Amino acid sequence: MRDAPRVRERDEDDLAACVGVLDTVHRADGYPTIWPDDPAAWLGPGADGRAWVAERAGRIVGHVALVRPAADDVAPTLLRHGPTAPLAVSRLFVDPAARGLRVGALLLARAADAAHAEGARTVLDVVTTDRAAIALYERLGWTFLGTGRQRWAPGTSVAVRCYAAPAASRSLPRETP
Ligand SMILES: CC(C)(COP(=O)(O)OP(=O)(O)OC[C@H]1O[C@@H](n2cnc3c(N)ncnc32)[C@H](O)[C@@H]1OP(=O)(O)O)[C@@H](O)C(=O)NCCC(=O)NCCS
Repeated sequence: MRDAPRVRERDEDDLAACVGVLDTVHRADGYPTIWPDDPAAWLGPGADGRAWVAERAGRIVGHVALVRPAADDVAPTLLRHGPTAPLAVSRLFVDPAARGLRVGALLLARAADAAHAEGARTVLDVVTTDRAAIALYERLGWTFLGTGRQRWAPGTSVAVRCYAAPAASRSLPRETP
């Protein structure tokens, strides 16, 4: 289908465009809550993580990363899991001009598929006021694990809702062939 969104692995050359989209999202939605000093570094995903971008009509319109959870992340503590520790979705955002086109759903599915291939469940947390993101996770059948408080900066904590990906990755959405 013409202009259908496509997801591919992010590479180093994509970072500037990703930061541009993130800036637009921050102004529109207040995500991330605290604008990072070094947004390219904040996008990570760090040494043992992976990241993907969504493109539409030749432009980057969305981003997601899959990372090992930080030691003080709440979501992994709420999931009973087997020998493989869960991985965490982070840095998920979609350009406001490309919303409602299943870009977010495709990015989430790609991250969850990658974790599933390693035998890991995927977890995430979302600020309780991020209604679009909560609607997305619940629409896609992610399991609500509980609520908690997450610390992102010294001396501040925010209320979050935590979710785990559906157990079967085949229930996740697919790209249009
Ligand atoms: C959350 C976000 C990634 C959704 O991206 P998107 O590409 O518009 O989402 P999709 O088109 O894939 O939506 C899939 C489903 O989620 C639900 N959904 C998504 N946005 C919604 C909204 N604003 N209100 C209600 N439901 C919504 C819908 O059910 C939708 O399916 P449907 O249209 O067939 O009913 C996007 O709004 C965003 O970037 N928000 C700001 C950043 C953010 O909050 N990131 C998450 C941090 S945890």
